[in-house]
Amino acid sequence: MANILIIYSTTDGQTRDICLKLQEIIEQQQHQVTIVPIQDESDLELTGFDKIVIGASVRYGKHSPKIVDFIEKNQLFLESTPNAFFSVNLVARKPEKRNPENNPYLQKFLKQLSWTPNKLVVFAGKVDYPSYGILDRSMIRLIMWMTKGPTDPKAVIEYTDWNQVEDFGRIIGKM
Ligand SMILES: Cc1cc2nc3c(=O)[nH]c(=O)nc-3n(C[C@H](O)[C@H](O)[C@H](O)COP(=O)(O)O)c2cc1C
Repeated sequence: MANILIIYSTTDGQTRDICLKLQEIIEQQQHQVTIVPIQDESDLELTGFDKIVIGASVRYGKHSPKIVDFIEKNQLFLESTPNAFFSVNLVARKPEKRNPENNPYLQKFLKQLSWTPNKLVVFAGKVDYPSYGILDRSMIRLIMWMTKGPTDPKAVIEYTDWNQVEDFGRIIGKM
């Protein structure tokens, strides 16, 4: 049985939902999973964990700077422990952008770091216009219009492929 830590950054909850699904799948393999939001990372003692997974969503082109800080601060631990990183974004609604090599945000993120995760995954996120403030809604609709995505201000569309999330959970269990 491995003791697995999942650290995540979310704004609207989709990355957290993905973490919860990963937890369910990994625990079915008899491992123990602890999920921690990035804002609580300072309370953590990392040395008790056998594997670490980090997940973050993209907002205006970037993953949370807190995730970058966490990685830089704990790079030695990350390099000595089986690890994975996953990104959640809307450009990945296009299947070819779920390939980590073709996902511009993930590639930009990795260039910022000297850490190379053992395993990289990109999940498509969710668009939920009614829940956004007027500025965010206008900006995302503009980006969607430019990239031929949905622009109906009432649209709520979850693009996340839960089978892909489950497959990743099984990979983490075996990692
Ligand atoms: C204000 C805002 C900015 C966003 N910026 C981007 C972006 O630059 N690129 C992208 O692919 N997705 C972008 N998204 C989509 C999010 O990555 C997607 O909604 C994801 O599911 C959010 O995950 P979270 O709920 O865990 O934060 C943005 C969403 C919002 C609300």
